[in-house]
Amino acid sequence: MSSTGLSRQSLAFLALLPVLLTLRRLYQHHSGARRTRKVAKIDERVLVLGASSGIGRSIANLYAARGARVCVVGRRQDKITEVVEECRTRGTTSSRILGVTADFADVEDMVKLRGQLETEWQGVDTVVVAAGVSALQPLMAVAGVESHSGGASFTPPQASAESIQKAVDISAAATRGNYVGPLVSAITFIPLLTTTSAAPSILLISSLAALIPAPTRTLYASTKAASLVLYQALSIEHPRIAFTFFTPSTVEGDFRASAVDSGPVREKNPNTHGLKREEVARRCVRAVDVGEKTVFMPNLMRFGHFLYWVWPAFVEWRARKKYNFSA
Ligand SMILES: NC(=O)c1ccc[n+]([C@@H]2O[C@H](COP(=O)([O-])OP(=O)(O)OC[C@H]3O[C@@H](n4cnc5c(N)ncnc54)[C@H](OP(=O)(O)O)[C@@H]3O)[C@@H](O)[C@H]2O)c1
Repeated sequence: MSSTGLSRQSLAFLALLPVLLTLRRLYQHHSGARRTRKVAKIDERVLVLGASSGIGRSIANLYAARGARVCVVGRRQDKITEVVEECRTRGTTSSRILGVTADFADVEDMVKLRGQLETEWQGVDTVVVAAGVSALQPLMAVAGVESHSGGASFTPPQASAESIQKAVDISAAATRGNYVGPLVSAITFIPLLTTTSAAPSILLISSLAALIPAPTRTLYASTKAASLVLYQALSIEHPRIAFTFFTPSTVEGDFRASAVDSGPVREKNPNTHGLKREEVARRCVRAVDVGEKTVFMPNLMRFGHFLYWVWPAFVEWRARKKYNFSA
């Protein structure tokens, strides 16, 4: 042990850290160059599920701007028409942008979309799963039960059968948007992606909430965690595909407006405090280019995950503060 209490091995590791980080960066640079050699940016066929707004829309724009073929998908037809126009003005020939109104949790919609990609592009290289829905209330509030006195009493004192059922129905909507959609998309597109691309990639936009628990995010975080682990396991089952898991903290935009439980937003305004959508989108595209596996944004948050296991009380206190929550 040294006088600082660190063992020789720890000191050696710390000394080596800059070298390891440089090697990692060089490797990523090399991987990026390798993917571009296999699939030129201008030839890349990119499917963006959940492109009618927010992060998915910005990602679609970035790919369009660099000349890729882009298929934008969402349920709101008017928004999809807008995004197609936006992508076309980014400099790509209009025939290279497809707009499809579809629900990514609907099997028929996804099979139809796959057929369209086979006909129009003879396959796909990159699938971006950006679609998702928010949920904002504490679980007991979803069931119409409020807790008081530091969680010691409840009004009403018990959840009724109807209110439990209501919570189950809302949870089904969160599950559909955050788990069933990614599941249907994976089953539908993995074989097409694997057999038609020289460098197949899947980007899942997950959330930091899927890794670090937060109050008022019970339904959102647990359903996002389910799809994250689903894709992490799929990544082992399908080693030919480069999977990227993106776990951002709060991002600017209207995500909370789509909440399946329509609760109040308790944290600071995402539009003044959140990550900038464009920056998130740029980081996503770079991560896919170089084949990064898990991306935290901000990067420092990768230690938050670790901190939860070693000092949960601190992380829980921070989470309560962030979400302005008291039991
Ligand atoms: N905003 C944040 O603070 C934040 C933080 C961390 C992670 N994320 C994740 O980032 C992703 C994008 O969120 P965002 O902030 O960009 O929110 P957003 O603007 O609400 O975008 C969500 C997109 O998903 C689409 N979508 C939702 N359900 C769909 C369905 N069943 N089928 C097809 N498309 C569907 C929506 O389009 P339609 O309504 O037209 O279908 C929309 O284009 C989400 O997965 C979210 O969990 C967001």
